Amino acid sequence: MWIAGLGPSPLPFDMFSLAKDADLARRQDKLTSLYHRGQALAWDGQKVLAELLAKHGGIQLDDAKRHAIGNILQVLLWGELAAWKIASQLADSFVPLGPKLAATSQAHDEARHFYVMHDYLRELGFLPQPLNRQARVLLDGVLRTDDPLFKVMGMQLMIEALALTIFQALRESNAEPVLCELLLYYEKDEARHVGLGVQYLPSELKKLSRWKERRMIAFQVQLLLAALLELKVMEPHMRVLGVDPRRVYLLGTTKQALVFEMLWKEQGQADPEEESLASRILTASGELLFPERPPGRSAMSCYYQAAKEALRTLRVGLPENIPASSIDPEAEAQRPMASVWRAETHS
Ligand SMILES: [Fe+2]
Ligand SMILES: [Fe+2]
Repeated sequence: MWIAGLGPSPLPFDMFSLAKDADLARRQDKLTSLYHRGQALAWDGQKVLAELLAKHGGIQLDDAKRHAIGNILQVLLWGELAAWKIASQLADSFVPLGPKLAATSQAHDEARHFYVMHDYLRELGFLPQPLNRQARVLLDGVLRTDDPLFKVMGMQLMIEALALTIFQALRESNAEPVLCELLLYYEKDEARHVGLGVQYLPSELKKLSRWKERRMIAFQVQLLLAALLELKVMEPHMRVLGVDPRRVYLLGTTKQALVFEMLWKEQGQADPEEESLASRILTASGELLFPERPPGRSAMSCYYQAAKEALRTLRVGLPENIPASSIDPEAEAQRPMASVWRAETHS
């Protein structure tokens, strides 16, 4: 029981005397600068949304597209709330100053993302509904873990990569101009949040025991499958907007690969074998959930081919195909991502 100053204080008075090597000190400085950049680049959500609505004469959409955008955005809205909560949990639990500042800055960004998306949905005339179980697995998994290492891996590296994927897909669909311009603001902020994970994780990963490393890989696989399920929930709504869900899945795997490549580079190592296993499981599951559907081929034949491809991926490894760096095939042709993908998936 706490009685008048007896017992340990919740304040970490030794936070400035924690041992730091040069590498850690450099990362702490980068994390601190994420906070200052976040402050310098903070945008006024109320003003930006009002200006975009005035510029485009409000939201002009038919009912089908209005419903589709609402259904996709409500998943993202609850995702923003989860991100706000997770960043706040991290800001509270981190002791060193650099990560604490970076997580605090992220919480501030996520609060803005949440209220602006809520305001946009109100303009759209769409009332957000509770998420179903399938769409909740990813967010609940990261919210519920108590381990800051797992939380950062799940939030800053995996949920952020998925959010960036869906933002880009929506923006490239040109479905609604106010939203397309608004999402550019979100994407810039989310990229900074990935930076928190990339700078925080290397020194923590060095301390991992073999047992905890295995647990973390299992956690990653669980989250990757949950991310695919979340995309599956959005599939019918993406089709209404003219977005090919398979291309979104490929774009997502590419973004995830890029994020992990950044982490490994920061750690000064090539891709570990275990990550290849996680990538294989992700790709095999993705092939089953989002099979290639060339025109003229029956659905049965496409699913049979997808099952064969999934088994082959699990046994032998990832296919040599070029993943999407965009949901727009023409844009992708101008900016092929094959070299980046190979660097990530092959040692
Ligand atoms: Fe966000
Ligand atoms: Fe974020």
